Amino acid sequence: MINEYLSTSAIARNYKIRTKDLFYYLMSKSYLYKEGKHYKLTDSGFKLGGRYREQKEYTNVVWARNCLDEIIADNLAPHLKGGKYRYPSGFKGGSMEEDKIISAIESGEINAQNISFDIIKKEAITPTPTDVHGELDYGHAILDTQDQLNKYIYSYSAMIKSQWVQMFNSLKVPLGNIEIIDYACGQGLASMLFFDKHKDARNRSNITLIEPSEIALNRAKKILRCYMPKAKVKTINKVLDDIAENDIQADDSAIKLHLFSNIVDMDIFNIGKLLDKITTIKGKNYFIVMSSNRDSHGGSPRLNVFYNYFKNNDLYKVIKAEKNSFVMKNPSTYPGAKDFNVRYVYIETKV
Ligand SMILES: C[S@@+](CC[C@H](N)C(=O)[O-])C[C@H]1O[C@@H](n2cnc3c(N)ncnc32)[C@H](O)[C@@H]1O
Repeated sequence: MINEYLSTSAIARNYKIRTKDLFYYLMSKSYLYKEGKHYKLTDSGFKLGGRYREQKEYTNVVWARNCLDEIIADNLAPHLKGGKYRYPSGFKGGSMEEDKIISAIESGEINAQNISFDIIKKEAITPTPTDVHGELDYGHAILDTQDQLNKYIYSYSAMIKSQWVQMFNSLKVPLGNIEIIDYACGQGLASMLFFDKHKDARNRSNITLIEPSEIALNRAKKILRCYMPKAKVKTINKVLDDIAENDIQADDSAIKLHLFSNIVDMDIFNIGKLLDKITTIKGKNYFIVMSSNRDSHGGSPRLNVFYNYFKNNDLYKVIKAEKNSFVMKNPSTYPGAKDFNVRYVYIETKV
């Protein structure tokens, strides 16, 4: 008798899907709701085949054995691709999950007064994120779960901080309105570090965030809105090759800061074609590229391509062009942790 009804997690296990995805799906479709920490059935949940099972200390939701089959097959069932379970397109597990950074901002725990890179990091990595390191593909993957977003911060935030703090400490941005364009922004870590350093710029800046991962972009948007409550925060959910000239519109008089944080080294977009579209934006433009210094899988040779693009043109004036590298100490005490070898390109132009 008892086997005719299964718990939500037993059903998820049978289908090799994640229990929390199944719970989120059932909540999003109003078959379940939460009372405190406990899941409760709605009328539709009962109609679908749910009921309660009394355990010793608590009451559990269970489901008639096959009543979720159709829902899972249509919306959640993974299919095997390249040896890994993937969700069918149209279902994004991550977009249904609660984003704890967004929740912390919405509850006011993180707010315009206390927001910083470090506070976002602490929230994202406490408790220690589930180990999905392999799914990050060395940071190159287009992320689609909350575990991946948090693990990305856990794994790469120290490196990214070491790169940009160094750059922003030496960057003198003229007073005036600023327009940041953060290319493949991920969760917006580079932009956050800019506003940590240049607090006064929060009231005179607008920002455009470009990123193909929907959940990373949503998180970045919420974070940057929190930093700059009065600003225009524009989001573009695209890969870089799909960027059109009119996607990026900035005031001629604004100082345009084009941030490329750990993206130019990835061999996934055409550097020349992108620069053709953005280097003629009128006014003062700063192009800043940061990446780890390596010669494989794209790497530093692509930063040279970026740098060389600015030679020999008559469409704009190059005020300053610099490329260099530096090494930053890795603060990790983890045995074998390597120092960060950073490569950067800095170009200042006037159109
Ligand atoms: C190494 S991460 C850098 C993220 C962010 N700029 C940072 O420093 O944290 C690479 C980013 O590139 C994004 N990405 C992957 N393929 C892309 C593409 N073809 N066009 C634009 N972004 C892409 C990923 O979603 C990811 O956010």
